[in-house]
Amino acid sequence: MACASFAKLNAASSQWIGGQQSFSQRNRSSTARVSVPIRAKAYTDELVQTAKSIASPGRGILAIDESNATCGKRLASIGLDNTEANRQAYRQLLLTTPGLGEYISGAILFEETLYQSTTDGKKFVDCLRDEKIVPGIKVDKGLVPLPGSNNESWCQGLDGLASRSAEYYKQGARFAKWRTVVSIPCGPSALAVKEAAWGLARYAAISQDNGLVPIVEPEILLDGEHPIERTLEVAEKVWSEVFYYLAENNVVFEGILLKPSMVTPGAEHKQKASPETIAKFTLTMLKRRVPPAVPGIMFLSGGQSEAEATLNLNAMNQSPNPWHVSFSYARALQNTVLKTWQGHPENIEAAQKSLLVRAKANSLAQLGKYSAEGESEEARKGMFVKGYTY
Ligand code: 13P
Repeated sequence: MACASFAKLNAASSQWIGGQQSFSQRNRSSTARVSVPIRAKAYTDELVQTAKSIASPGRGILAIDESNATCGKRLASIGLDNTEANRQAYRQLLLTTPGLGEYISGAILFEETLYQSTTDGKKFVDCLRDEKIVPGIKVDKGLVPLPGSNNESWCQGLDGLASRSAEYYKQGARFAKWRTVVSIPCGPSALAVKEAAWGLARYAAISQDNGLVPIVEPEILLDGEHPIERTLEVAEKVWSEVFYYLAENNVVFEGILLKPSMVTPGAEHKQKASPETIAKFTLTMLKRRVPPAVPGIMFLSGGQSEAEATLNLNAMNQSPNPWHVSFSYARALQNTVLKTWQGHPENIEAAQKSLLVRAKANSLAQLGKYSAEGESEEARKGMFVKGYTY
């Protein structure tokens, strides 16, 4: 059985991207090989194209894939009940912002939102397509305690993932997200890191098999008193394991996107680091661990203030990188929007404008051209929450 599936895998890997000849045919017929083989699956060309279009200059991802419970916390912060109608109203505000596609290339949705429409009956996925924004879907099933570890967690969701992914594709999703976490104050234990990396790799392979570009997100939580050097050490370990298992699972690197945390000191460390220092440590880590075949690095904001997240991204784009270096922020794109909206229909336009302000600032940061001059007080407020769950 194992041997049969291995033979099948070998047969699949011997195709060429966009090519008509098999690997063995090519070997027999020619001495000079110019094409570079990558593992070909039914969706390979499309995955590569999708990843490239998300990682396009001056654009990044709007993450609005909060579970219903987390969305409820967002709504509670402005005094709204966690009802389906309120979640829809909030997502409608975000997804129908005119001109959003200039700065946003992809939007990560929660399952409920993927199947929802505006109050006028237009599917949210169609609103996105009209703005040339690729719809994405959170596919993990959240974190639970990891027995045998040091109070750490692991991420559920592999059971039934292939059939769910196929359904999401039919509904219009073209990329996926799986967020697992690693905690520095809890260790991290070798077990937790291995489990996180293996889960991400299995999810990535299953997503690619079903036409979804996987966003690979091992979030190294900001919690802790440790210095930036310790974050660097842990991030290097985590990403080396992630890439080891991605390769073991024959994931096509050209058809994935990464969503790392920036390398910063722990949130409770005595000294803050400048954007230049964060950029230096983060890029050092990524250059040591991430092959240039990967098209895009789309950072999470992790509790940084809106302005901080933008400044750090800008600092990372002051010189050319081997990959597109951009954003996939949730909190750092939504904070001011929520505060501006307050659940009142008459504030929708102003709230959409504030989303455009943040999206444009991050677009400029992706191009390395952002200046924080004139940023509001609200945008400078940190959003770190100890033990944050998403
Ligand atoms: P934040 O930018 O709020 O850290 O979001 C993390 C995330 O995984 C969203 O998809």
